[in-house]
Amino acid sequence: MLKKLLFYIRVGCKLMKKDVINNEDYKKEYNKVSGTYNHWLNEMAKFTDKIIKPEYVSKENKQKILDFACGTGYISRSLLHKNIDCEITAVDYSDKMLEQLESLNDDRVKVINCDGIEFLKNTEEKYDAIFFGWALSYFNYKELFKLFKRVLNRGGIVGIITNAQGTLSDIEDIFMKVMYKNHEEVIKPMDIRFNLPYGKEGLTKWFNRYGFEEMESEDGEVLFTFDKPDELLKWLNETGAAAGTACMFKDYNIVKDDLIEEIRKTKYKNGKYEINHKFTYGIYRYR
Ligand SMILES: C[S@@+](CC[C@H](N)C(=O)[O-])C[C@H]1O[C@@H](n2cnc3c(N)ncnc32)[C@H](O)[C@@H]1O
Repeated sequence: MLKKLLFYIRVGCKLMKKDVINNEDYKKEYNKVSGTYNHWLNEMAKFTDKIIKPEYVSKENKQKILDFACGTGYISRSLLHKNIDCEITAVDYSDKMLEQLESLNDDRVKVINCDGIEFLKNTEEKYDAIFFGWALSYFNYKELFKLFKRVLNRGGIVGIITNAQGTLSDIEDIFMKVMYKNHEEVIKPMDIRFNLPYGKEGLTKWFNRYGFEEMESEDGEVLFTFDKPDELLKWLNETGAAAGTACMFKDYNIVKDDLIEEIRKTKYKNGKYEINHKFTYGIYRYR
């Protein structure tokens, strides 16, 4: 009991001191994920498509678009296919994720390898639209939305799709149990939960607070099932869904079997191992 209490106090102190997984850790993890990120896109990009809507983008003059935390550039590529007259700036901190977009060699796309916050603080450019796919959890929305306003023209839009509260259910508990069991292996925790909205109402509330008006928003959820618990863990690791978690431990390989065992105990349902991805997407205009 005392051991458990001490463990939670230690984790709590680290959270308070912000000694948590940071942008350098995410960069390192996404560099590892870059070769398998297409597994995510194969299943989830159809939902990203829901925010890539030309009807919200003016056709009268060339549009300046920011693909923020662009990864391998799925959104930038989709925008180009839609034949919107635009100039895209695509920013991401992971140099490996950016390699695929760089190889596109399209002079309508400027690729920038930089921490997103540093970019927003320092750029002198103004944009008509920002697209932001699957990366809100890596930022503090309060800091981020203020900076979005800094770089958006009045009337400009933000198209966003993000994980929402309730996604990857039980996974946080599984990690906590494994952290507790291997407490001498733990370097620092992750505080991603605070950066996830409570569905479309939550996301809209966050945007409204910063002067954005909702154009449309929606919630979604998909379930993936696997025959074995290690396949579920592999999915989390290869898609980036669990990005950052490996950096919580001194040696991830030491705790991996415990993670698989906890998944086996917790995620078994109807003869399969099941995981949910809960998300929210929308378009918001800066008034
Ligand atoms: C799940 S991927 C999303 C990629 C792309 N937007 C898409 O929809 O496919 C998350 C991306 O956020 C990037 N990222 C995380 N933290 C970042 C930061 N502080 N600055 C810039 N990019 C960051 C990662 O490198 C990764 O490429």
